Amino acid sequence: MNSEPPVIEFRDVVKSFGDHTVLKDLNFSVKRGERVTLIGPSGSGKTTILRLVMTLEKLSDGYIFIDGEPLTHTERNGKRVPVSAKEQKRLRTKIGMVFQQFNLFPNMTVLENIIEAPIHVLGIPKQEAVAKAKDLLEQVGLPDKADAHPTSLSGGQQQRVAIARALAMDPEILLLDEVTSALDPEVVVEVLGILRKVAETTDVTMLIVTHEMSFARDVSHRVMMLDGGKIVESSDPATIFTEPKEERTRQFLSAVLSSGL
Ligand SMILES: Nc1ncnc2c1ncn2[C@@H]1O[C@H](COP(=O)(O)OP(=O)(O)O)[C@@H](O)[C@H]1O
Ligand SMILES: [Mg+2]
Repeated sequence: MNSEPPVIEFRDVVKSFGDHTVLKDLNFSVKRGERVTLIGPSGSGKTTILRLVMTLEKLSDGYIFIDGEPLTHTERNGKRVPVSAKEQKRLRTKIGMVFQQFNLFPNMTVLENIIEAPIHVLGIPKQEAVAKAKDLLEQVGLPDKADAHPTSLSGGQQQRVAIARALAMDPEILLLDEVTSALDPEVVVEVLGILRKVAETTDVTMLIVTHEMSFARDVSHRVMMLDGGKIVESSDPATIFTEPKEERTRQFLSAVLSSGL
């Protein structure tokens, strides 16, 4: 019997910025090892969803569960009450995120960027963290950049460091927000290649936002089309890319594909 809870579950999630409601009663879940891609027009709420999982934004209402445990709020005696900061921090260590703009710490070397959280958040001994970081730098093709500063690296190299930094935490969940959108076309392939390898060789659960439709098609188990903070359609990539059910999805895909994004 498989009664394992989903790795990520959104239950009646509402997110507003001021009086602008971006997500309205959003419900979905992601299974262990599943790779789900979010597609949809700009402003449809994709980044907000990832930032909520990463606890970089506060939920307005509803619940998010990680491995069945409440991430921000829980229901007690019919009331919605916040979980403790300690509990939230514990769940947070299961989640890694890579951003469009890399977001490396500019005052630290590449190696320091990668070992910071493993040492200070997970309490891993420095020697061990360094060994693992060097291993990861090898995997992302930057074995000789440990002592470099992020500003001396190209965008593609910075993004590879950001991927290594996220993987250094051994996350159960990897959130990828348009990680190739700020890169020159020739390095996009390189970065996507690294992520394809992560997908093939690990069972990390991925929630991906990308306009790289061939990557989405190859790597995801499921694609969810979002519009106006709502899920318009959700299905396996072969179905959604070749015979989308909804007119809105069809429009969006033809716009993206013809723009050459
Ligand atoms: N910090 C913020 N303050 C106010 N509005 C925001 C903020 N972040 C996002 N939004 C709004 O929320 C909506 C969804 O944004 P976002 O999640 O970034 O969309 P996407 O990633 O799909 O382009 C947009 O209308 C955006 O303007
Ligand atoms: Mg976005």
